[in-house]
Amino acid sequence: MAVAAPEDANGSMVVPFHGPDQAGLTVRPQAWSTFLALDLLAETDADGLRRLMRLLSDDASRLTSGEPALADSEPELATRPARLTVTFGFGPAFVARAGGEVPAWLGPLPAFAVDRLEEAWSHGDLLLEIASDDPTTLAHATRMLLKDTRSFATVRWVQRGFRRAHGSMANGTTMRNLFGQVDGTVNPGPASADFDGLVRIRDGGWLTGGTSLVVRRTAMDLEGWDRLDRPGREASVGRRLDTGAPLTGGGEHTEPDFEARDAVGFPVIAEFSHVRRARSDDPRERFYRRGYNYDDTPAPGQISNSGLIFACFQADPLTQFVPVQQRLSDLDLLNEWTTPIGSAVFAIPPGCDEGGFVGQTLLID
Ligand code: HEM
Repeated sequence: MAVAAPEDANGSMVVPFHGPDQAGLTVRPQAWSTFLALDLLAETDADGLRRLMRLLSDDASRLTSGEPALADSEPELATRPARLTVTFGFGPAFVARAGGEVPAWLGPLPAFAVDRLEEAWSHGDLLLEIASDDPTTLAHATRMLLKDTRSFATVRWVQRGFRRAHGSMANGTTMRNLFGQVDGTVNPGPASADFDGLVRIRDGGWLTGGTSLVVRRTAMDLEGWDRLDRPGREASVGRRLDTGAPLTGGGEHTEPDFEARDAVGFPVIAEFSHVRRARSDDPRERFYRRGYNYDDTPAPGQISNSGLIFACFQADPLTQFVPVQQRLSDLDLLNEWTTPIGSAVFAIPPGCDEGGFVGQTLLID
């Protein structure tokens, strides 16, 4: 029996490239995201950076609106943006080469005991986060933008991530990670009253109105997780697997009761559970998490190579992200099955108006 073609609900959807923020910061997370870090060539100077960012911003503005890039080799692939966004971030070397002030937090994070970092997944001079609800669009946009970078930089790492496909869950449903957990419930996102104060940088010179992004590639040991029973899995985080509700009851968005005790007097949500350890008494120690799952080729003899591209935005990584990561590194039951293997910090400049380019506040003519 012939099946009617589905209505085009999403392919033509455009997220405007221009505006005060880079669109990838505030858009509801797309199904697919590629995080891509580049190293600048030795000969790329401030003038080169200006030309590069003009070129990239120009092509990003075309591609995100469903138009081919300049000199697009496959223009037919550009016609379904499916909420494509392109977000640019600068590493310390980029800012220094541009002659700008490097924020104190822009550099490698302090070492944490849990880290098993690999250079191949860490650092970088220029970040592109390219995200869309359509993986073909994403592949095409990535290729077009990388073509622009060819005479300025080389690819350092690429991390491809995913959430549920567009349409398989109601919009706004909290994502699940590959442990099956509801992940992202307590999160000051763009719709929350705290977002502005926690995420946007005020009085930051060229970065005013921008933010920072921490990317931590975190391997998840699915084989080890398999050996843990359901109560153990739930205890490690302090939330139920089915609904994501705290173990002290209610629904996904009910506040956990960290004081509640069981019949023998133990805390219902263990002191060493992930949510207990990740929560700070200091309301400044919060950030906006916007991560993606990854699932790559297993090493010989293994059947999985999976994890989370943990990504979070905040005004200052040192005072917001680091204390939380330090506490989790000191004690968190989830550490048994999770290992940070990559780490990078980028300055995310504000967006630009039509005719402008991302980074123009840094790369003043
Ligand atoms: C693979 C690694 C990780 C997994 C699987 C994971 C999973 C989870 C889950 C299931 C929750 C509960 C639901 C929610 O509120 O989102 C949660 C909460 C949270 N996680 Fe993680 N997480 C990971 C790494 C991290 C890292 C590296 C940080 C920061 C350094 C972090 C910070 C938080 C915070 C702040 C919360 C909310 C805590 C609260 O209720 O106040 N997580 N995480």
